[in-house]
Amino acid sequence: MSLNEKKVVVIGGSSGMGLAVAKMAAAEGAEVVIAGRSEEKLRRAADEIPQPVETRPLDVTLEHDVRGFFAEAGELDHLVVTAATGMVGAFLELDTPSFRQIVDSKFWGQYFAARYGAQRIKEGGSLTLFSGVAAAKPVAGLSAYAAVNGAIEALCRSLAVELAPLRVNAVSPGIVDTPAYAGMNPFERKKMFDILAAQLPARRIGRPEDVAAAVIALMKNGYTTGSVVYVDGGHRLV
Ligand SMILES: NC(=O)c1ccc[n+]([C@@H]2O[C@H](COP(=O)([O-])OP(=O)(O)OC[C@H]3O[C@@H](n4cnc5c(N)ncnc54)[C@H](OP(=O)(O)O)[C@@H]3O)[C@@H](O)[C@H]2O)c1
Repeated sequence: MSLNEKKVVVIGGSSGMGLAVAKMAAAEGAEVVIAGRSEEKLRRAADEIPQPVETRPLDVTLEHDVRGFFAEAGELDHLVVTAATGMVGAFLELDTPSFRQIVDSKFWGQYFAARYGAQRIKEGGSLTLFSGVAAAKPVAGLSAYAAVNGAIEALCRSLAVELAPLRVNAVSPGIVDTPAYAGMNPFERKKMFDILAAQLPARRIGRPEDVAAAVIALMKNGYTTGSVVYVDGGHRLV
């Protein structure tokens, strides 16, 4: 199944894995729309993609705006949601607003996108949600992500049945070097990545392109639905 001339919408497409998906889809001839909150980030992302892409500002936590976004976007072939924000922190120290920010952006954001986007997806299309390794492998400091990722995986399976024949899948990345870690001290970040890379079966940290390739494969594979695809270098196993 080719992506040529298919309309691919990536919410979270201005950075990291979403941007990598947008680049790969555009390179395959898709008509790509990227969405995120910051217009500046969207402009910079569009400049990085050799093919022309449409940029649309959107805060996926705002139900009314998400509904309007899809009403304006019209019909589409594939929807991918990578949007998420929030800091990590020890369960007993992370305050409720910080925990809630992760739930709002990553759970409710994907819920709203599915709720209002799914009905615009054409026959043969797909919805790809984003989970993460914390759902499968408990790591101290990641309880909010663990809870949300687990909920997203359950939602994915449920929607794959309820919204069929629309295909609904989730990708579960491991640690991937993206701007999500830009706030860390660069030396601390490199140290963390090096220690983790040595422990992983894949012996390296993920790249956005590793994950984007899996998302593109899910869009094209007409027989995969309700699946959680792990692109984590084996992180959940060790
Ligand atoms: N990187 C990792 O190691 C890792 C590991 C496991 C799972 N994941 C998951 O993988 C997904 C992608 O992560 P990433 O590392 O690629 O992230 P990233 O580089 O930080 O990019 C996040 C994207 O989402 C957008 N975004 C954030 N909040 C938004 C909101 N409320 N409304 C609309 N757009 C929003 C951002 O743009 P604006 O800020 O302009 O809105 C940006 O385009 C996330 O679900 C993350 O939890 C990541």
